[in-house]
Amino acid sequence: MALLEELEALRVEALRDIASAASPAELEKVRAGHIGRSGKLKELMGRIKEVPPTGKREAGQRLNAVKSEVEQAWEDRKTALADSAAAGPLPDPTLPGLTQAMGSLHPLTQAMDNFTGIFNRLGFSIRHGPEIEDVFHNFDALNMPDDHPVRDQADTFVLDDNAILRSQTSTVQVRVMEEHVGKYGGGRKMPPLRIVSPGRTYRPDAVDATHHYSFSQIEGLAVDRDVAFSDLKGFLALFARETFGEDTATRFRPSFFPFTEPSAELDISCVFCRGAGCRICKQQGWVELGGCGMVDPNVFDAVGIDSELFTGFAFGFGIERLAMFMLGIDDIRRFTENDLRFLRQF
Ligand code: DAH
Repeated sequence: MALLEELEALRVEALRDIASAASPAELEKVRAGHIGRSGKLKELMGRIKEVPPTGKREAGQRLNAVKSEVEQAWEDRKTALADSAAAGPLPDPTLPGLTQAMGSLHPLTQAMDNFTGIFNRLGFSIRHGPEIEDVFHNFDALNMPDDHPVRDQADTFVLDDNAILRSQTSTVQVRVMEEHVGKYGGGRKMPPLRIVSPGRTYRPDAVDATHHYSFSQIEGLAVDRDVAFSDLKGFLALFARETFGEDTATRFRPSFFPFTEPSAELDISCVFCRGAGCRICKQQGWVELGGCGMVDPNVFDAVGIDSELFTGFAFGFGIERLAMFMLGIDDIRRFTENDLRFLRQF
């Protein structure tokens, strides 16, 4: 009989579609097509009137049986799909674990902390000064004559008549000594002073692998009765060995700075070739760290310290340069590019 054959075909097709529905949305489509209000089963039920009276009973039972079977299969599939969605995909035990990306200090900050830490242990306190300075602290008090070439506008960032971006951290020597004199007077009762001052400095230099318009220096100053050049040598030799290794040699070459007399440049044995001669030290075996010397009496006069009673030493090093030696970095621009591939190495 045609109706029962069609019914059997529908049953097979509906069960197959339900079993293969992969999502609730697909399953819903299957329901609408086969057992929904305008679905195939409904249509077949409507055709029961075509069946002759002798077969009506059997056809009716069969229709109801198929309806329940398909509905039940649909319900079961719906529950199964909901369960597997709730469980989610099985975890993959071979995947690497989740890690938290950790930040770290900038290599320059690490280097700076290292340098100030060494001097701190030697009894130097850490002081800071302003990056916008006046002419007195950047030049006058440091014994730089009015016609000194670095006062030229082309060598300093000038903001207005009496405001510049400091070109050196030596400014902080002046500020700290002024403050000290303000508290204790610059005479017999003045206690000794030992400070280091790390910070940014600015010069309108063209940028290349070893120059930048914004760089950092660490300044040092020690003032006491009877401070001698040998003290300066001792502290700086110790600093060099602590920073670059026990076998680091130091040498002092005569030089000139307006604020120190005598003045020297400090060299250390090349950290790359250990003194043998290489490209970095231009086959010299030595690299320059920075300037130093004995505080010029004119500087003491400018801040009101009695230069008959006190002597002092001072030094100033470029931090980027020291950090480049210490960390083996060949280009000063790396420090400011913020390239994470570089920064993550430290
Ligand atoms: N201020 C100098 C510069 O920027 C470095 C310097 C040299 C600082 C000698 C000092 C010093 O304190 O004694 O080139």
